[in-house]
Amino acid sequence: MDGGSVVFDRAAGYYDQTRGFPPGVALGVAETVARAARLKPTDRVLEIGIGTGRVALPLAPYVRAYYGVDLAQPMIDRLVEKRDGERVYPLLADATRLPFADAAFDAVIAVHIFHLIPAYAEAFAEAARVLKPGGVLAHGWNTRHTEDVLNQVWNTATQSAGTTPGIPFEERQKMLPAHGWRLQGEDHHPYRLERAPARFLEDLRGRVYSHCWSMSEEDLQSGLTAVQAYMAEHGIDPDQPRVIDTEFRVQTFQPPG
Ligand SMILES: C[S@@+](CC[C@H](N)C(=O)[O-])C[C@H]1O[C@@H](n2cnc3c(N)ncnc32)[C@H](O)[C@@H]1O
Repeated sequence: MDGGSVVFDRAAGYYDQTRGFPPGVALGVAETVARAARLKPTDRVLEIGIGTGRVALPLAPYVRAYYGVDLAQPMIDRLVEKRDGERVYPLLADATRLPFADAAFDAVIAVHIFHLIPAYAEAFAEAARVLKPGGVLAHGWNTRHTEDVLNQVWNTATQSAGTTPGIPFEERQKMLPAHGWRLQGEDHHPYRLERAPARFLEDLRGRVYSHCWSMSEEDLQSGLTAVQAYMAEHGIDPDQPRVIDTEFRVQTFQPPG
């Protein structure tokens, strides 16, 4: 944690295996974000919470320069290892205190980040400060966590135990407008995931998701027991991959006017 933000140092080694898009999907996601944010080849873009470059690396070819900040050096190191000529420039910095001049960027990209930052209002203010007049904030997320029934069972069983220091998932679409940001448009990229329940249980047991990091062993066990009981009741084979239809969504906003 840093300033209360959830920092992903521990996840760098497994982030791409557990959060990566299925083959080919990253390009569709990048195209969708580029279209929604109306990115141009002359643009300078900033991603806050750039991570291992899951979104940045496929999105960078749409713009002139793609900067990123993250508080986890191991995530940045992983991005740099993967970088293959893309003009992506990550640095260690906090989204709530950006080391950039006012009006430095044509667009700011934020994907799966605001739930991790208690001072998300400061991150909003910083995004507004570094945007050029007419620039947009593109806020994106993938929705699989709400769509899979096993996830819903897990979430219900662990509701009070899981921690989300920033914006809770169900409020993510409300918070930017609540702070005066003006919705310009939205888009989505549908895709399909296949995952065996055994793998889901293993990921939970291994605490690969950030909401599990500060959960007590007891709460983790009761969540696992609830998912296993649901599977037994509904005859779900742990080794049979389940198909989950999901999507990546993006909304674009202009700062408070
Ligand atoms: C869930 S990952 C998302 C990474 C990337 N945007 C993606 O979609 O794959 C969130 C990242 O935000 C970083 N992070 C958390 N709080 C931050 C903050 N206050 N400033 C900058 N980065 C932060 C974490 O270290 C982590 O690498």
